[in-house]
Amino acid sequence: MENNDETLLKVEHLCQYFPMGPGYDLKAVDDVNFEIKKGEVFGLVGESGCGKTTTGRSIIKLYDITSGNVYFKGQRICAGVRSYKSAIKAAREECKATVAELKKNSRAEIDGGADEAEVKTKYDALIAESRDKCARIVAENTAAMASAKHDHKYCDKDYASGVVAQLIAERDAELADCDDEEEREKIAREYKSKIRIAKNERIVNSIQMIFQDPIASLNPRMTVRDIISEGLVIKGIRDKKYIDEKVYAILEKVGLVREHADRYPHEFSGGQRQRIGIARSVIMEPELIIADEPVSALDVSVQAQVINLLNELKERLGLTILFIAHDLSVVKYFSDRIGVMYFGKMVELAPSDELFEHPLHPYTRSLLSAIPLPDPEYEKNRKRFVYNPLAEHDYSTDLPTMREVSPGHFIYCNQAEFDKYKAELDK
Ligand SMILES: Nc1ncnc2c1ncn2[C@@H]1O[C@H](COP(=O)(O)OP(=O)(O)OP(=O)(O)O)[C@@H](O)[C@H]1O
Ligand SMILES: [Mg+2]
Repeated sequence: MENNDETLLKVEHLCQYFPMGPGYDLKAVDDVNFEIKKGEVFGLVGESGCGKTTTGRSIIKLYDITSGNVYFKGQRICAGVRSYKSAIKAAREECKATVAELKKNSRAEIDGGADEAEVKTKYDALIAESRDKCARIVAENTAAMASAKHDHKYCDKDYASGVVAQLIAERDAELADCDDEEEREKIAREYKSKIRIAKNERIVNSIQMIFQDPIASLNPRMTVRDIISEGLVIKGIRDKKYIDEKVYAILEKVGLVREHADRYPHEFSGGQRQRIGIARSVIMEPELIIADEPVSALDVSVQAQVINLLNELKERLGLTILFIAHDLSVVKYFSDRIGVMYFGKMVELAPSDELFEHPLHPYTRSLLSAIPLPDPEYEKNRKRFVYNPLAEHDYSTDLPTMREVSPGHFIYCNQAEFDKYKAELDK
């Protein structure tokens, strides 16, 4: 991990629900929170269907998320509105019930013989207070909703304006320092083209995803050159020679050769296709790469090569990586921190070593029990155990939340479990 604490990505109360029918949503991602520091590799682990890919796809804005926020470099890039809508609805309902109750009480007092004018004054004040409170909550959440909608829709535009403003400032500074007319024209020309491209700049371009399935994610009718350069072309770069040079350089970086540029995806092996997928992401000079099970479709012998390549690129290009896998053994040596997901929820989050040394949540333990080790003694005694949430937890009275059991080690549990886990750690 790099020696700084800059948070690159912050995922806050992320919810992505898929409507499945009237009144029923599939909660693919449900209130997930985590941060990734610059230069870090964050592993996201969990069994098939737990919401890992959906988390990744939400971050790169392939969905209008249901609720929560995603911040990248401090700028909000995704924001959902469901929580604000629910808060408004709840406030209105509460106000309606309170007012009805107050009216009922006031009638009862009058019927009981109290002075009508006095009772009316008292209760009118209480009712006004309740309505004021409701109006305040509605106003706050309406404003939050408008701001969320703005950021979700215009984050790229806002980002592009910032980049353009910076380029203009740089250009003007260079022009101010330059007396030579020819040189000044050259500077102006160069910046004109940079500014044209910057106007279409998308903050999300700095986050690139390597997709789970290297076969389905590469268009079979496009050459490797066109696949890899597509992002640059969409960005508005027209200089063919520049693009070609970039493509050749990136092919070499990922362990392919420039002669591969004019071939088609089917002419490559699985491992090579995944290298093409990596090249396509890296050419955009991203700061964050979301690698969605980049090796699970590959032979074990090739898996290590692709992981080594990612590791090397991370070092060389200063990348930050969100590494998704369903198997803890894949992320063990590669991740600085690991988050474990179960059915849309994050259930445990800790530094890698800590998670392997002190796994606390029973689901994490069951994942660990599934990893075979090349140690006959260990294998003889290894017991696989299957996580059964109904048998493990009693959440009938005290509901679970994410709690920090030791510095940086979070676990989804209620108070009784928290005390138990803490005692286990202190043993
Ligand atoms: N577009 C969609 N519409 C409806 N449901 C979806 C959609 N995408 C995903 N889901 C559902 O959301 C849940 C989470 O899916 P997701 O693909 O995120 O899981 P995953 O953890 O990546 O699994 P895997 O390891 O198999 O890739 C699943 O139940 C899936 O069926
Ligand atoms: Mg997936």
